[in-house]
Amino acid sequence: MSVAPVSSRLQIKPLHPLFAAEVTGVDLTVPVSRDNFRAIWDAFNRFEVLVIRDQGFNDDTQIAFGKNFGPLETMEAHPANNFRPGHIAVMTNLDANGNLLPLDDPGMLHRLRNEAWHTDSSFKPVAALCSMLHGRIVPPVGVGGNTDFASARAAYAAYPDTRKAEFEGMTVIHRVAKPEDKNDPAYNAEQKKRLTVRHPLVRANPVNGLKNFYAGAHAQQIEGMDEAKGYQLLTDITAFCTQPQFVYSHQWLQHDLVIWDNRSALHRATTFDKTKYKRKMHRTTVAGAAQEEYFAQMPEPLAA
Ligand code: OGA
Ligand code: MN
Repeated sequence: MSVAPVSSRLQIKPLHPLFAAEVTGVDLTVPVSRDNFRAIWDAFNRFEVLVIRDQGFNDDTQIAFGKNFGPLETMEAHPANNFRPGHIAVMTNLDANGNLLPLDDPGMLHRLRNEAWHTDSSFKPVAALCSMLHGRIVPPVGVGGNTDFASARAAYAAYPDTRKAEFEGMTVIHRVAKPEDKNDPAYNAEQKKRLTVRHPLVRANPVNGLKNFYAGAHAQQIEGMDEAKGYQLLTDITAFCTQPQFVYSHQWLQHDLVIWDNRSALHRATTFDKTKYKRKMHRTTVAGAAQEEYFAQMPEPLAA
């Protein structure tokens, strides 16, 4: 008598009362069915952060899966990605031979910036739609090195209504590097100029209309407002959004894939003993343009 294979079915389980969910029952290293991708896309818009365990990606399959969401960003060669231009940014404390880097290595110093709350590529004219981080080498459970996520959508919903009308009219200047970082070797003057852009302080998800604050470490100035006052307001808003009730902290297991919505979630790396434990994460980032068109054109899945 033959035994029917155990069929796996995509399931979504919330990880936090307000956002973040775990997706199970799907292998993303092989082409994903339209129905499964639709379920992932819907969950992404609803939950902002998706955790999918046990995905045995290499760079090629990670890139192929990422392209379901739209065109990928191409990283410029700089210390944040070990000078490797392309679709994969490597977040690691290891050198090319897999040995621990000294804490004062320029790449290590540059990656410390990830420990401030931020949203990826908010300093680009077309800010990122989402990032996908895959745990290739992760520190042992319990020693730190989590990635924290904050829902700036849940925070916006919880924010007192009194100032919301005022906030909605505000435009924020985002910069890749703070103006005072004159000696930051990671970016030259041309890049700093090109990577200074404007975005509204309040954005809405185009699928469900839910609004959120769009701030984080790159948000540095409010147009038409005194610089120090604007900076203070942005700092206060980021602090409001990152209160514990709006935070999901992800403890990594090897081969986790975490996808986050850069349009509304903030994130930060957390520290661990980088002289002792190895950590290597590969990131793909989907550019923000045209996704809404892309998915508007995507036919509804056929009824089963
Ligand atoms: C990133 C990032 C956080 C981490 O890859 O964009 O901020 O925990 N990473 O490595
Ligand atoms: Mn980041």
